[in-house]
Parts: sequence; C-alpha cells; structure tokens
Amino acid sequence: MAIERTLSIIKPDAVAKNVIGKIYQRFEDAGLKIIASKMVHLSEREAGQFYAVHRERPFFKDLVSFMISGPVMIQVLEGESAIAKNRDLMGATDPKKADAGTIRADFAESIDANAVHGSDAPETAAVEIAFFFPGMNVYTR
Ligand code: PPS
Repeated sequence: MAIERTLSIIKPDAVAKNVIGKIYQRFEDAGLKIIASKMVHLSEREAGQFYAVHRERPFFKDLVSFMISGPVMIQVLEGESAIAKNRDLMGATDPKKADAGTIRADFAESIDANAVHGSDAPETAAVEIAFFFPGMNVYTR
C-alpha cells in the first residue's frame, strides 16, 4: 500500500474546545505521523482561496466566516493510505450522520462547525499541502 501525505485542519470550533491533543492522539493511534504543523488565524482572503472550489455553494460565505472566527491547527499527516485513513477518522461531513467514535461524532456540533477538514483525494492533497506548506513533497515513496 502507498505511503501518502494528506492535509488536515482542526477547525476553530475544535481549537476553542481545547481538543487538539485528543485529535492528535487519534491520528497517532491510527498510525499517522504528524510531519508538519502550524497554528494560524486565517485571513478572509486565505480562507476564500482555500475553499475556492465551493465559491458558488450557498454555504460559502458562512464557511469562510466560520474558518476565520478563530485560530486553526493545520497539519500534514503521513502514513499508509493516509488520505482515506484520515477521512475515516473524521467521519461524515454532517456530524449527525457521522459514525460513532469518529472525530466529528465526538467533537462536532453541526455541519457548519464540524471540527476537522481532510483532503479527499491525492490531487486535492497535493494542492492543499502546497497551499499551506509551500515546497513540501506530497509523496514520500
Ligand atoms: S459536498 O457537498 O460533498 O461538496 O460537501 P463536502 O465536500 O463534504 O463539504 C464541503 C465543505 O463545506 C463545509 N460546509 C458545508 N458543507 C455542506 N453543507 C453546509 N451547510 C456546509 N457548511 C459548511 C464542509 O464542512 C466541507 O468543509 P471541509 O473543510 O472541506 O470539510
């Protein structure tokens, strides 16, 4: 199986809840390595660029406002099938539909404030890692 890298964001709601450590523990327990991380307070411009693919969606403005409402913790995770593994750990976008034991089921309140983001495919992982960690390799081997 392939060793992959994926971008993960702990969103403002989860940072405010003080559960960064608990979420990191889940990454580590699943065999994912945190190989880069930074805490940032995104600007409206940065959040808008990051979520540009959703620009035409009705929730776009609210999503950007939420993402700039407080600091976020951004990390690159590395491991076997890291992209799918992280999505499994996160659970469904809507926490009400997320499987028990997932990050969103345990720490998120709503589809708007849903605790975490994770890249959904190798192509988006490459773009998203480059967005926040320019110059970083996407794949290790
Ligand atoms: S979709 O419908 O498949 O495109 O949705 P998805 O890619 O899973 O999520 C899009 C991102 O927008 C955030 N968001 C919402 N999605 C759907 N509905 C509402 N109301 C909404 N509000 C915010 C959602 O959390 C996804 O963010 P990321 O950071 O990519 O997980």
